[in-house]
Amino acid sequence: MTRNGKRHTVQTNSPAVLGGRPMFDKPVAITRPTIPSIRDLKSAYGRILKSGIITNAGYVREFEQKLSQYLGVRNVVAVSSCTSGLMLMMKVLGLKGEVIVPSFTFHSTVHAIVWVGLKPVFVDCGAKTFTINCEEVKKAITPQTCAILAVHIFGNPCSIKPLEQIAKKHGLKLIFDAAHGFGAEYHGARLGRFGTAEIFSLSPTKLLTAGEGGIVATNDDQLAQKIRIGRNYGDPGTYECEFSGFNARMSEFHALLGISSLGDLEKNVIKRRKLVALYKSLLADVPGISFQKIEPDSQSSFKDFSILVDKEKFGLDRDVLAECLKQENIIVKKYFYPPVHTQRAFAKYYHKKYAHSLAQTNMIAENILSLPLYSHMPESCVRGIYNSIKKIYQNKTAIRSLYPNLNKESKRQ
Ligand SMILES: Cc1ncc(COP(=O)(O)O)c(C=O)c1O
Repeated sequence: MTRNGKRHTVQTNSPAVLGGRPMFDKPVAITRPTIPSIRDLKSAYGRILKSGIITNAGYVREFEQKLSQYLGVRNVVAVSSCTSGLMLMMKVLGLKGEVIVPSFTFHSTVHAIVWVGLKPVFVDCGAKTFTINCEEVKKAITPQTCAILAVHIFGNPCSIKPLEQIAKKHGLKLIFDAAHGFGAEYHGARLGRFGTAEIFSLSPTKLLTAGEGGIVATNDDQLAQKIRIGRNYGDPGTYECEFSGFNARMSEFHALLGISSLGDLEKNVIKRRKLVALYKSLLADVPGISFQKIEPDSQSSFKDFSILVDKEKFGLDRDVLAECLKQENIIVKKYFYPPVHTQRAFAKYYHKKYAHSLAQTNMIAENILSLPLYSHMPESCVRGIYNSIKKIYQNKTAIRSLYPNLNKESKRQ
């Protein structure tokens, strides 16, 4: 018997939603941090504790140096999170007015804009790349525009060169929210050296993690110096503040975890690329499933692996698929639904003038589904998830009759 009381015969290869055995006995997480060797870390943590210097000291400096070398950028400043890095960057640049930003992003990008008193102007993204659409950016520029804040969604680099040209032509600052960016490349170069600055996240869902934290990467020495002062309340060390900053420092413990994680980064990037290649080759035979387009001269970090579900071709919509996968013990997420311009905190900034132009954002947000992916995930998980999706597809007619109203019910979960 199923949820709506209908009776059906359980086949051995039935999906769990039709009464079959779930594909996995225990939940497969959407992501897990890949933690470096605990043994090495333990003695180093002991040394930090013994020294009594537990924040913003030697390990933070070492981490910054190593990152600057790894990314090929003159300056790296460690901060407490990507959000605080974005806020500080917009503050020290002295921006005033409007910031052009994609609505298809994690809401934090927009929180940062609003917290520093700027106005977000939402623009659409590419239907295939999911990154900010340069033509829409051009249309949204007004005399009040001060900056473009672009996002490397899921680790897929934005159209960086065209954005740099637009920013230069109009005298705008170009900031990249590179929260997902570790492990990604554009035209053969690692992200981190582009635009006015790029700001990364080191939270546990990222390829490079420090537990929590962020880094600001910029080739502008003066800007980097201001961020250093800003992360320390705006105090250059004299107790006479130059401007109002806040505490966005990184602790030694976080920096040490970040250094260890950096040692494993390349290995983890390769593992992810292999897992994604496997996902794509298997799912290619399921009608109605498509993938984010990565331009040939770009490498994604695959911070997330997200599919688009075409309900006509797949036979079920994204929400029904999500529900069915949940019953197989597969944790999935609707990154990023709802889109930022529709959220309570941000709807008031949505400019009616651009109402027609967020069509791709709405379409992607309605149909996107992120599948489990983490660097140490076994290939057997990818195969099990693929088998579940295939099984669900093969049983779509029976499933459709069970969940006539699921689409309406499950929105915003
Ligand atoms: C696109 C994007 N920007 C910003 C952030 C915020 O990062 P943090 O949690 O380090 O502040 C995230 C977090 O995942 C994100 O996905």
